Amino acid sequence: MSDINTSNPDRNLALELVRVTESAALACGRFMGRNEKNASDHAAVEAMRLMLNTIDMTGTVIIGEGEKDDAPMLFNGEIVGTGSLPGIDIAVDPIDGTSLLAMGRANALATVAASDSGSMFNPGPFVYMNKIAVGPDAKNSIDVEAPASDNLANVARAKGCDVNDLTVVVLDRPRHEELIADLRNTGARIRLITDGDVAGAVMTAWPGSGIDVLMGIGGTPEGVLSACALRCMGGEIQGKLWPRNDNEKSLGHKLGYDFNSVLQMEDLVSSDNCFFAATGITDGELVSGVKYFGDGARTHSLVMRSKSGTVREIISKHRSDKLMRFSQIVYDQE
Ligand code: FBP
Repeated sequence: MSDINTSNPDRNLALELVRVTESAALACGRFMGRNEKNASDHAAVEAMRLMLNTIDMTGTVIIGEGEKDDAPMLFNGEIVGTGSLPGIDIAVDPIDGTSLLAMGRANALATVAASDSGSMFNPGPFVYMNKIAVGPDAKNSIDVEAPASDNLANVARAKGCDVNDLTVVVLDRPRHEELIADLRNTGARIRLITDGDVAGAVMTAWPGSGIDVLMGIGGTPEGVLSACALRCMGGEIQGKLWPRNDNEKSLGHKLGYDFNSVLQMEDLVSSDNCFFAATGITDGELVSGVKYFGDGARTHSLVMRSKSGTVREIISKHRSDKLMRFSQIVYDQE
């Protein structure tokens, strides 16, 4: 007898979440290159909040954004959605790469993830995490505590290539000086990015991106969002909370966080019923940015669900002349 479950297809929340990321991208895309970080964040956050509140769920924001830099944000613990069942954990980064958008650089994304209630890691006040991420072909070959050279040797073995065939994406930060030197010694190629490590993590699992591994210390919100995306795509991420100073260390001990423990993907998101959506704000390797024209705009998004493993690319044409007749979201500010 077959053990295939033949129950009817159930709800794919990601298909609703993509309207949330599309709205955020449309609302903030006009700020490209204008160096108005707070105004762009505000536009994206407000659009995201409005759209999240149309979804039938009781969503709890586990991962809000902005605490690191006092930017406008969806608050941790904020309840979003219509208030009906199911209960859902929500992670948002309305703009991953606020500086990328401000400077008109590539790969700024509007992102949101969702999973069953109680299944998302709550990083509390700790904003940084040391991460390593790979796509499906290198799953089970990484260890965030191992030296970079060991990780790359294992990833190369898993991929059936040489270490110098690999490309590692790393945030270009002074704190990564030693990591970058170690990577250079391995012979691997390095892609230094100024911001946006959700895109970096997703690229490791995106065929044709040319990126094999993400390494280094980046935001914890971005770590949880990346875990949701990589769970959907069959990749892997591991993280370790990274305290910035002794005050954070002692706060962590008080709050019961263990800075020595490795957070596996299942610790970052424990349910295999998770969803991820991202819409391009500026052009990038994964998706195109928002393109505006006379009476509307075009968006390009990724929409994923872990249970089915389906990854969709959605290109949408939005009519701002029509939307502005009934929507509270400002799609065409000057
Ligand atoms: P935001 O645009 O959401 O602030 O994040 C950009 C980002 O580059 C993330 O992708 C990354 O995880 C984090 O900032 C790194 O933090 P920092 O800029 O403080 O090194």
